[in-house]
Amino acid sequence: MSNANSFKHLLSPGRIGSLETRNRIVMAPMGSNLAEASGHCGERIQRYYEERAKGGAGLVIMGVGAIAFPAGACNPNQVAISDDEFLPGLRAVADRVHAHGAKVAIQIQHAGKVATRDIAAGRPMWVPSVPELKAGDLFNDLTPEEVAGVTAYMAEPGARVRFHEMTHEDIAELIEMFAAAAERAKRAGFDGVEIHGAHGYIISCFLSPASNHRDDEYGGPLENRARLLVEVIRATRERVGPDFPLWCRLDSKEFRVEGGIAVEDAWRTAEMAEEAGVDAIHVSAYADPTCGVAFTDAPLVHEPCGYVELAEGIRKRVQVPVIAVGRIEPDEGDKIIESGGADFIAMGRKLLADPELPTKLAEGRAEDVRPCIYCYTCVGRIFLNDANCCAVNPATGREAEFEIVPAAKAKKVLVIGGGPAGMEAARVATLRGHDVTLCEKSERLGGTLYFSSLVCEVNGKLVEYLEKQVRDLRIDLRLGEEVTPQFVHQLAPEVVVVAVGPRYALPDVPGVDRSDVFTGTDLRNLMTGSDKSAAAEKLSVGQRAMLTMGSLLGVSERTSLTRELTRHWMPLGTRVAIVGGGLVGIELAEFLSERDREVSVLAEKPTLATEMALPRRWRVLHGLREHGVTLLTDVSLVEINDQGVVYTGADGERATVEVDSVILAAGATENTALAESLAGLAPEVHTIGDCSGVGYIEGAILDGARIGREI
Ligand SMILES: Cc1cc2nc3c(=O)[nH]c(=O)nc-3n(C[C@H](O)[C@H](O)[C@H](O)COP(=O)(O)O)c2cc1C
Ligand code: SF4
Repeated sequence: MSNANSFKHLLSPGRIGSLETRNRIVMAPMGSNLAEASGHCGERIQRYYEERAKGGAGLVIMGVGAIAFPAGACNPNQVAISDDEFLPGLRAVADRVHAHGAKVAIQIQHAGKVATRDIAAGRPMWVPSVPELKAGDLFNDLTPEEVAGVTAYMAEPGARVRFHEMTHEDIAELIEMFAAAAERAKRAGFDGVEIHGAHGYIISCFLSPASNHRDDEYGGPLENRARLLVEVIRATRERVGPDFPLWCRLDSKEFRVEGGIAVEDAWRTAEMAEEAGVDAIHVSAYADPTCGVAFTDAPLVHEPCGYVELAEGIRKRVQVPVIAVGRIEPDEGDKIIESGGADFIAMGRKLLADPELPTKLAEGRAEDVRPCIYCYTCVGRIFLNDANCCAVNPATGREAEFEIVPAAKAKKVLVIGGGPAGMEAARVATLRGHDVTLCEKSERLGGTLYFSSLVCEVNGKLVEYLEKQVRDLRIDLRLGEEVTPQFVHQLAPEVVVVAVGPRYALPDVPGVDRSDVFTGTDLRNLMTGSDKSAAAEKLSVGQRAMLTMGSLLGVSERTSLTRELTRHWMPLGTRVAIVGGGLVGIELAEFLSERDREVSVLAEKPTLATEMALPRRWRVLHGLREHGVTLLTDVSLVEINDQGVVYTGADGERATVEVDSVILAAGATENTALAESLAGLAPEVHTIGDCSGVGYIEGAILDGARIGREI
């Protein structure tokens, strides 16, 4: 159990120049796409930031204010700070954040070579020097609809990709726009300003030797490449005065970019920024923007504490405070501050998943923090030019819609199914005052999410969180209870919510019932030890004995141990075919290839893992290809026989993948049979989650949250 003392360094007050914060937790700047299309801050974005302040963050950095709006902007609903007309909305954000005791800054930016609103308008994008266009692999694993979503700006009449090498006059104008925007932020009541000097936007483009090929005093050696940053800082400092908190975000490194920003460059740049007058350095990183997997190296790092060492390196070289960022969990953050590695910890995704994280830590309720599962759904939406959201927290970006308000009349509610949809529905309905019974036919909560946590470890934290909420609340929890019409009749609920997960349809080909063919359900039951009959019959005596031992030891109850056990033994041969290229099949392929299986995936559709948000899909598919997994798309299954899986490929030719075991990981469809059998037994019967149409974690939790509020 945690207590507030467990995070005493993270929760201790901090200071950036004249800015004092109640703790060291900073909400990282995130473009939310929640402003109005006009660039104004309306109710939706005001509420979004207010919620994070209310949740206890010390400093909220609003992302990302366009200084030349609509020029130099990169999202359709980006915040503008280019004119006084935007002041009222900005002031409202500042006031609403202040009302909850947090401090607020705004990150100011010009997007330069990725200013998609310039493309949409046919305006040339400002760059230090015209870049060489590189094809990259960004679109390789996208559906045509996703390609259209990502490149929506190209559909505007007059859209054109053009670059403009900035002249000295342009540079002077840019510097003036930064200074004016900062001064505007000060007038709007913001407590500080962060100059965006990272992530491939204009300043970082000048800083990077890979994108700055100028031969004047703004190009060449580092001192020249950093000139724009230094001049922006000086001009802004002069405009906002010596005491106004001002800092910059920098790339500590460019990953996968030949000749990009090196760690030593970043050290020296940070020193120059300090000399020019910043009060802090925010240490991020960047990577090749044309390479899908690179995005999960930077800026949205997949690796826990991925940039901490880089932040520590900079902190050794500057006197001003350093803000570290990049998948830093609170316990790690506390240690980093204690050891002097950084002065503040910025959290992005964790505060989308749970804005109340700081308050919960302070109240000694760390176990009640809703965990981020690093699924990239949030930023995947931004890629598609949509609004920010969170797969595990439906309220993110829709704060008003998902407020929990007491029910007008308390009702007796029966929730059937203890997966994420059922648990979230039970949680929300109970918080609203309903009298909830939650029945789960197996002996444990989590449903398919429990199994997916074997494959994808971080999902286990979500199971733990939901389970804790359900157990802590006044919910009548009945495990091992298979609900029948008689049961419902006796309980006499006013509302029944069916959340029993999907139905799996087997492919209609010969061989699906062979002993070396496992369905997803078989595998789940074997690995979680939930079914000792049907699936176990496919095992040898020795294998069955091992499983029994596992359950006696409680191994299958504990996902981390089960995961470890599966590194040494699994009821599958060396060569495995997975039929199904959706999220489930691809996650399984990752899991098995990491366990030295030779894996082939056979997918009916042309695009793999379409349910995975883009950056995650890029990462996982890249990993599979590196592991030598065979990925076959556009195939039709013919049969499963002694040799393996026979299929017809995209070219119409018949072929066989020779394997020892086959897993059928496709065919999940809606499952309304139980709900239908209960019709008429209660005034309201609802189906949610995968049994009403497969929506995985995001869909399940969203459905649960919705129905919990509607009852
Ligand atoms: C949806 C989303 C939007 C983001 N937009 C920005 C941005 O506009 N400016 C920026 O500097 N970083 C942006 N980031 C990066 C975050 O500030 C942060 O550096 C990154 O998410 C790593 O921190 P985390 O692991 O705590 O999420 C964004 C991140 C997310 C998830
Ligand atoms: S969408 Fe996924 S990655 Fe983003 S904050 Fe939510 S859980 Fe984390």
